[in-house]
Amino acid sequence: MNKLSVLTRAFSSSSSLNAVKTVTVVGGGLMGSGIAQVAAQAGQNVTIVDLKPELLEKAQKSIQQNLTRVAKKVHKDDAAKVEAFVQDAASRIKVSTKVEDGVNADLIIEAIVEKLGVKQELFNKLDSLAPEHTILASNTSSISINAIGAGIKRKDRFGGLHFFNPVPIMRLLEVIKGDHISEETYQTMMEWGKSVGKTCITCKDTPGFVVNRLLGPYSAEALRMYERGDATKEDIDIGMKLGAGYPMGPFELADYTGLDTNKFALAILYEQTGDPVFRPIPILDKMVAEGKLGIKSGEGFYKYKK
Ligand code: CAA
Ligand code: NAD
Repeated sequence: MNKLSVLTRAFSSSSSLNAVKTVTVVGGGLMGSGIAQVAAQAGQNVTIVDLKPELLEKAQKSIQQNLTRVAKKVHKDDAAKVEAFVQDAASRIKVSTKVEDGVNADLIIEAIVEKLGVKQELFNKLDSLAPEHTILASNTSSISINAIGAGIKRKDRFGGLHFFNPVPIMRLLEVIKGDHISEETYQTMMEWGKSVGKTCITCKDTPGFVVNRLLGPYSAEALRMYERGDATKEDIDIGMKLGAGYPMGPFELADYTGLDTNKFALAILYEQTGDPVFRPIPILDKMVAEGKLGIKSGEGFYKYKK
């Protein structure tokens, strides 16, 4: 299926939606804003919760821009339809700095910082506030789903929904089955994934799930190759694009994903597996400590215009 038909399918699937009609996304950063966008495009009512009003404004601006990109692809030069598409989807998105404003939803997806304690605290709160039927899900890259949900009561209505960056374009959704997820919750998650235009694959709650278990060693080896001075970062990037057909090289991808997310994910994989391929990488630690987080901070391995 090509990119355009995926975008069109997402937009036209709202009529077939059954269980999930309202979605809350906690964390309106890179991933959360994309998740909110695809849900709104699919006709669902969405609330985004983040810590500060300015972060919510940033999320809304980025969603508006990305909706316009999608609308231009779907409706080509028909300016009125482009405008209507954007306004229609954007009108379904509310924002708030209070998690309490987002608890009345069929599905709540967490996309906050990749730290176990912070995620656990949020899920414990959501579990106590959300209605009985609400499904809770984490978009974690690499933390164990069972560990994130350890303190909640509704373990049967909890799992992983792991999206890929950029969410509106990447066609995959990994549905992660924790040890206690019910068949009904799992099926609802799979159906919901399809309703927002994604192809869903399933993985047990294992370190890195499918994609990051494979991308982690690739990224780590590229960083070490650069650290050793085997080749320049530019040449490594060119090598993987032209020699392996990847859309981005490993340094472009690290900047795109966020070096902080990359560092946390490798640390968690190392803790979970003990595999030395995931051991700390000094250059990554140094860059994160200096605030060089990639595109989101304006500089990572490369520099970006704000
Ligand atoms: N929203 C809507 N549309 C977007 C978009 C967004 N956020 N980002 C890009 N696009 C669209 C562009 O408008 C463009 O559309 P047209 O082809 O119709 O012009 C198309 O996507 C391609 O974009 P660009 O021309 O700007 O640039 P590109 O051709 O280099 O593609 C890319 C950009 C899609 C990001 C591509 O480089 C790519 O696929 N990179 C690899 C991304 C990847 O590997 N992601 C997974 C990371 S791992 C992860 O996410 C998991 C984790 O836990 C960390
Ligand atoms: P990000 O830094 O862009 O956004 C995180 C957002 O969460 C920020 O806006 C922050 O203000 C907000 N936040 C933090 N704590 C909060 C709280 N307690 N309540 C409400 N909001 C809070 O990060 P991101 O890249 O969007 O990553 C979010 C999650 O998605 C992480 O778990 C990450 O591992 C995962 N993920 C990231 C990628 C990627 O490529 N960046 C891909 C897949 C999954």
